[in-house]
Amino acid sequence: MNKIKIGILGFGNIGTGVWNIIEENSNKINNYLSNTLEVQKILVRDIYKNRNISVPQKMLTTDPMEIIDDPEIDIIVEVLGGIHPAFEYIKQSFEKGKHVVTANKAVIATHGEILRQLAQEHNVALRYEASVGGGIPIINTLTQSLSANKIEELVGIINGTTNYILTQMSDFGMDFDEALKLAQEKGYAEADPTSDIQGEDVAFKLSILITTAFGIRISPQDIPREGITKISKKDIDYASQLGYKIKLFATAKRIDNNFEFHVHPTLVPIHHPLASVNNEFNALFIRGNAVGELMLYGKGAGSMPTGSAVMGDILEISKIIGINFKSAPLNILSENNLNIVGEG
Ligand code: HSE
Repeated sequence: MNKIKIGILGFGNIGTGVWNIIEENSNKINNYLSNTLEVQKILVRDIYKNRNISVPQKMLTTDPMEIIDDPEIDIIVEVLGGIHPAFEYIKQSFEKGKHVVTANKAVIATHGEILRQLAQEHNVALRYEASVGGGIPIINTLTQSLSANKIEELVGIINGTTNYILTQMSDFGMDFDEALKLAQEKGYAEADPTSDIQGEDVAFKLSILITTAFGIRISPQDIPREGITKISKKDIDYASQLGYKIKLFATAKRIDNNFEFHVHPTLVPIHHPLASVNNEFNALFIRGNAVGELMLYGKGAGSMPTGSAVMGDILEISKIIGINFKSAPLNILSENNLNIVGEG
């Protein structure tokens, strides 16, 4: 059986999720692929750190080039987060002819266009399902299942940390700081949770969704946004007395040939389906001109759900590589999945 080898850049929440899924589901994965998927190397900050999972120490390195330059590695999984050096590592991986799967919304929202272009130039794949909505297959739904639709509207909850905080404040009387601390402990929050609570994380994700759904590029900085830092327990209690929940909404609408987009806390009537999306769960309402209305719901953050989305991308690329092992039909890779909806 041939082997498809992956290198993982980053071994935090998502990286360990990917490792655990490969370990737990190896039979399912290898049957699906008819190839063996194997982790070759993992980039870590500290090789000798105590970890709860058993990973052979020889697999760990602190040198990213040991992974990017490794001729045996087919797919690089970038789960470092942040724009730099993730952007440079992805670029270098393309130059070495490697396919890249990333969960990094910051890098895709800010440099997605150039990265898609570079991937095409190097005839390799770039996939980023995990960058929006954790384990929910949002990007694939928009680019594949709904590709014949003109998308008219996207509205939803796409940040697990803030939804977790708002749920804890509203349903369990917890205060903001306590709830944030718990969200961090559960591995939902970004390394710097300011990005979550100030709505930047949602703006990154909405920017990716706008490009994917509408084929236009809106920089995350140009999306009007307000986070949840000004929401007090009192606001939540008043809203509740009036029959509302407060949720952090991301909205993008096509209105004729114009677009409306913003991120802000919203009063949601308690019987509205989005009012019952709680804790780390995310939900996205989509309206397409052919399909009508639909809603995607699931865990929007966390190690295993986000790892699941990363794995979906890895397997999809592996399947194509595996059709003709080591001489992949690269035209399929470029045609199949690299173009954004509405582009070209
Ligand atoms: N910090 C993000 C969230 C992680 O809470 O939604 C998943 O993108």
